[in-house]
Amino acid sequence: MLDKIEALRGEVNEFKADTQAKVEEFRIKYLSKKGILNQLMEEFREVPNDQKKTLGQALNQLKVYITERFNSLKESAESSSNVDFSSIDLTRSATSFPIGSRHPISIIRNDILKIFSDMGFTVAEGPEIEDDWHVFSSLNFPADHPARDMQDTFFILRNPIDVLLRTHTSSVQTRTMERMRPPIRIVCPGRVYRNEAISARAHCFFHQIEGLYIDKQVSFADLKQVLLNFAKQLFGAETKIRLRPSYFPFTEPSAEMDISCDICGGEGCPFCKQTGWVEILGCGMVDPNVLEACGIDPKIYSGYAFGLGIERITNLKYKVKDLRMFSENDVRFLAEFESAR
Ligand code: PHE
Repeated sequence: MLDKIEALRGEVNEFKADTQAKVEEFRIKYLSKKGILNQLMEEFREVPNDQKKTLGQALNQLKVYITERFNSLKESAESSSNVDFSSIDLTRSATSFPIGSRHPISIIRNDILKIFSDMGFTVAEGPEIEDDWHVFSSLNFPADHPARDMQDTFFILRNPIDVLLRTHTSSVQTRTMERMRPPIRIVCPGRVYRNEAISARAHCFFHQIEGLYIDKQVSFADLKQVLLNFAKQLFGAETKIRLRPSYFPFTEPSAEMDISCDICGGEGCPFCKQTGWVEILGCGMVDPNVLEACGIDPKIYSGYAFGLGIERITNLKYKVKDLRMFSENDVRFLAEFESAR
């Protein structure tokens, strides 16, 4: 038995275990219930009494030796994970993952707001669910104006008061004038609703930006200068503007503004219907009735307002032919605008 113990000691000493699996193999072979060490213990019971002392000591030492060997094998297998670090670039970035891109309407809205904020306008917002006063009555719409008709306006309630989805952001004009005293210089971005059949060229909701400036001695020339600066900044320094007389209940005089066609540079093309001009906004001097309705004295103050459709300008910039693309949220369409910048 002593020889057996010696031989085992040698075997254990030789055992190579450089992986965790090998270490486990070692444990099962020598230290488990059915392992060699336990088998020796069994045999030890049969040993004649006079040999028990020497053999017992030798067996104990073997047990200590195997346990220590097991612990040291285990430790070194854990610390060396068998990976060749020289082949790994630890400075490499993690795998990339897709992130969203900004919606084209948001891109153009932000561009427009930036241009006006550089000219001293601050951003104001108002509710999309409105009442008749803020959308129509305060803005000098006659009681029988066609815009109030069910065919244009989405009504939520009709009696005792009219509650509706705003048809234009001009309602924020009124809300701001009721709340603030002049000088007022604001731009109001937001979504508006009109009861239109949805097609490539019309939608039942779209986005506008309304501008308003109220102060002493504000003139039409101020309005024209601000709009010219806006057009040049957004469409390029070569851009020309043209103001055509128009009508809005809340401005007098009123105008519509065209810019020289961004596509043909004013030469005439199918986009501008060979005219060289494209309409982009409505504007005018705030009607004295509107100032009065909001508690501002029209004998002291005057002002101008303008309103534009963001979809229309985005179309001009990006040539999107179908308005429905803006609200269908097809990521393949939306992702194009990151690179368009
Ligand atoms: N509110 C008008 C519209 O929706 C646009 C506009 C705003 C015109 C301000 C003049 C002044 O069509």
